[in-house]
Amino acid sequence: AHRPPARRRTALLATVPVALAALVGATGPTAAGAPGAPGAGDPYFPLSGNGGYHVRHYDLTLRYDTSSRHLDGRAVLAARAGQDLSRFDLDLTGLKVTGVTVDGTSAAFRRAGQELVVTPGHTLRTGRVFRVTVAYDGTPQPVTDPDGSADGWIPTDDGAFVAGEPQGAMTWFPANAHPRDKSSYDITITVPQGRTAVSNGELLGRRTEHGRTTFHWRESRPMAAYLATATVGTFRVEQYTTPDGIHVYNAVDPREASAAAPVLKKLPSVLAWESGLFGPYPFRSAGSVVDHAPGVGYALETQTRPLYDSAPDISTLVHESAHQWFGDSVSLTAWKDIWLNEGFATYAEWLYAEQHGGDSAQKTFDALYARSAGDHLWAFPPGDPGSGRNIFDTPVYARGAMTLHEVRKAVGDADFFRILRAWAAAHREAHGTTAQFERLAERISGKRLDGLFRTWLFTEGKPKNA
Ligand code: ARG
Ligand code: ZN
Repeated sequence: AHRPPARRRTALLATVPVALAALVGATGPTAAGAPGAPGAGDPYFPLSGNGGYHVRHYDLTLRYDTSSRHLDGRAVLAARAGQDLSRFDLDLTGLKVTGVTVDGTSAAFRRAGQELVVTPGHTLRTGRVFRVTVAYDGTPQPVTDPDGSADGWIPTDDGAFVAGEPQGAMTWFPANAHPRDKSSYDITITVPQGRTAVSNGELLGRRTEHGRTTFHWRESRPMAAYLATATVGTFRVEQYTTPDGIHVYNAVDPREASAAAPVLKKLPSVLAWESGLFGPYPFRSAGSVVDHAPGVGYALETQTRPLYDSAPDISTLVHESAHQWFGDSVSLTAWKDIWLNEGFATYAEWLYAEQHGGDSAQKTFDALYARSAGDHLWAFPPGDPGSGRNIFDTPVYARGAMTLHEVRKAVGDADFFRILRAWAAAHREAHGTTAQFERLAERISGKRLDGLFRTWLFTEGKPKNA
């Protein structure tokens, strides 16, 4: 084997420590720690999330003035250092930061694009649990996604539609905003009396004072930042407990109420049906926010309480409910695996139709497979959408669901439904990857499925035979 001459090796070795010292500062990495990364390492959204620490809990206290559209916020994050941290980033865009403290002591901060860079007075050692407080305010603006859609804090005529997938959490609170980092949340929102502020999990309290109403919500199960909401509007509220003991809170814009009513009535039976297929419902609370937000163009599976831009049809209700298992409880580690969310939720729609007097999943599959090779359905393979621009495009949803149907045909119904339940159970309140799903499906079925997954998830163009 070729070896460089000894002289050059020596020269190289000598320069390395010098370069490292320059990078991390004169005292070196052990004494001063190192900065946390500005992103979670996701090539689709390189600045989403941050390295070096994990947020255990967010305590957000917000006040929103629906007429001026001004938001006042205070975020208290309980975090844990995963390395010796000299400084760290949070994701936050727009808004004005008026102060940052770390463990009660004011900390230096600066803004750089969507990064809020915080430098505490001293290095936070690995394993150290610390508290960050960020005071901020301003008029939140949604972020424009690579596909041209908007997400984040989206003002409406009577409040705001707040949906953060994939990158909108940073438009309304400072966050480690990548699904790799999941946390519990307390979200307290004050709005003008007569408006309702709806968030995730359980409503712990509600009080009206001096013409304003404060809603205190708690999501105690781990949640990705993009699934948090604080949707504000004029809503009709309905609350009840299902026979399975799930607490339901529905908030409906009166303009959508008559169209929404027959669909929302089915929520308990949809959740019970999905529990039968996927295993126990992963959360204690459920419900819906049916807003009137023309122009948004999508719904979101906000944890425990999906958010609709208008009255949903039954398929959409089934889809967002299925995400509670696939996407919310079992989270992505990278946005390129998005088919694990959208393919599964879409396949849930097909199964619902099949078992409720509609088309069989095979018939839905056949109609899609009949599309010509030039159809947009085959534009890219769903296991590798290529960029953030494609994550909500048809191939991810439809060909993702077709992939699951192929798995079902290959392993048979009994093993297929065992696989879905095992997936939800094994990765509950955690994360899963495409490779892990493939291994689980092979282990349960005892079949080799690498060819199937390669063809349906990773190969360009319309698969040859189905
Ligand atoms: N996950 C949502 C669904 O249920 C779609 C979110 C779309 N977000 C966006 N920014 N376009 O399919
Ligand atoms: Zn979806």
